[in-house]
Amino acid sequence: MTTKQLDAQYIMPTYARFDLEIVRGSGAELYDNEGKRYIDLGSGIAVNTFGAADPDWVSAVTEQAGKLAHISNLYYTGPCAELAAALCERTGMKKVFFSNSGAESNECMIKGARRHALLHRGEGHSTIITLRQSFHGRTVTTLAATGQDHFHTEFGPFTEGFVYATAGDLDEMKALVAEHEPAGIMIELVQGEGGVIALDPDYVCALRKLCDETGTLLLIDEVQTGNGRTGSLYAWQSYGITPDIFSTAKGLAGGLPLGATLFSEKTEDALIAGTHGSTFGGNPICCAGALSVIRRLDDEFLAGVRARAEYIRQELSGAKGVADISGLGLMIGIEPEGKTAKEIIAACMEKGVLVLSAKSRVRLLPPLNIDEKLLAEAIGILKEVLAQ
Ligand SMILES: Cc1ncc(COP(=O)(O)O)c(C=O)c1O
Repeated sequence: MTTKQLDAQYIMPTYARFDLEIVRGSGAELYDNEGKRYIDLGSGIAVNTFGAADPDWVSAVTEQAGKLAHISNLYYTGPCAELAAALCERTGMKKVFFSNSGAESNECMIKGARRHALLHRGEGHSTIITLRQSFHGRTVTTLAATGQDHFHTEFGPFTEGFVYATAGDLDEMKALVAEHEPAGIMIELVQGEGGVIALDPDYVCALRKLCDETGTLLLIDEVQTGNGRTGSLYAWQSYGITPDIFSTAKGLAGGLPLGATLFSEKTEDALIAGTHGSTFGGNPICCAGALSVIRRLDDEFLAGVRARAEYIRQELSGAKGVADISGLGLMIGIEPEGKTAKEIIAACMEKGVLVLSAKSRVRLLPPLNIDEKLLAEAIGILKEVLAQ
C-alpha cells in the first residue's frame, strides 16, 4: 500500500491533507516521493526555523541522541537547564517551564496566571480575557481561550472563565477588566491563524498600562511569533513592552516538539513543586536542538530575518493580484484579489512552491535563513500566480 492509502485506512481523518508526500529536504528545498523539488515558504507551519536537515541543528540533536534521549523530570539534565538559562538571559525572564507543544505552553500560562492571582489577590480572579480572532490551541481549555465561536461547538462543556474582547478596542477591554477583575489578558501580538494580523503597538502599550493599573497579568502567546519569526527573538521585544508570562513552541526546537512558558520576576512564584508537570517536557534531545536554535538567533541573524521580510514586502506591495499585505517579519499575510488563497496554494504547489493560508489570506512563513536566490525564485513564482 502507498503512504496515501495507509493514511486513508489508518489515520483519524482530522486533516485535509494536500495530495503531496514530502520525503526529504535541505534548507528551504523539499522533495516529494517522486523527486519533484519544492521551495518551502511554510516551514512546517513556522516550526523548521532553519528549514530541513540543517547541518548544525542535526549535529546538536544527534549528538544528544547518542548520549541520552530521555530520563524524566525526576533528574537534572544539562540541555534543559542550559536552555532555560539561555532563554532567561535573552529575555530577562526568571523561570521557565518546558512542555511539548503550543497548547501545553498556553495551558501552563493559564494555570500560572490563575494560581498567581489566587496567591496575590485571593479568590474571584480566575477569568482570562482573550481576543476575538485569536488562536491558542486545541485542548479543551485552549479552545475555550480561543476567541472564535466556531471552535466552541461539539466538544463542550469547555473550561469556564474566558471572555473575549475585540482587538484594538481599548474601551471595551477596560470595561471587561472592570467587570471581571481577571487574572490576565492573553494576546498574540500577530494573530496567526486569525489572518496574520499584527496588533497596533499603541493598543499593546495601553494594555500593558491597563494591566499595571489593575493588577492584571499581561500574558503573551508567542507560540507562532516567537523564536525569531517576526525579526526579534520574541515579538514583544519589538513592541517595547514586557509580558508577565509568555508562552512559545513551534520554532523553538527547530523541528522537534518543545513548548516553553516563561515567567517574569513578578510571576516567578506562580508555580511550585507538585502544581504542574510533564513527562516529556524539557526532553534532552528537544532542548539540545532548541539551544542550537536560540544561540544562532543573534542580532546579526535577526537583522537577516528583517531584511528578507523587507524584500518580500517590497516585491509584493502594489503587485498585481495583491489587495493587502499584513504581518510582521517573516510572518506575512497576503490578501489576494480575484482568487482565493486555496487556488493560489494549489497553483503555487503545481509550480513547485509551498505556501500556506490563514482565513482568506495566503500566509508565508519561510525558514528564517532561506537562501536569498531561492527566496527570489519563490516570490517570482508567487507573483506570477497572484497576477494570473
Ligand atoms: C498562537 C498559537 N498558539 C497556540 C497554538 C497551538 O500550538 P500547538 O499546535 O503546538 O499545540 C498555535 C498553533 O498554531 C498558535 O499559532
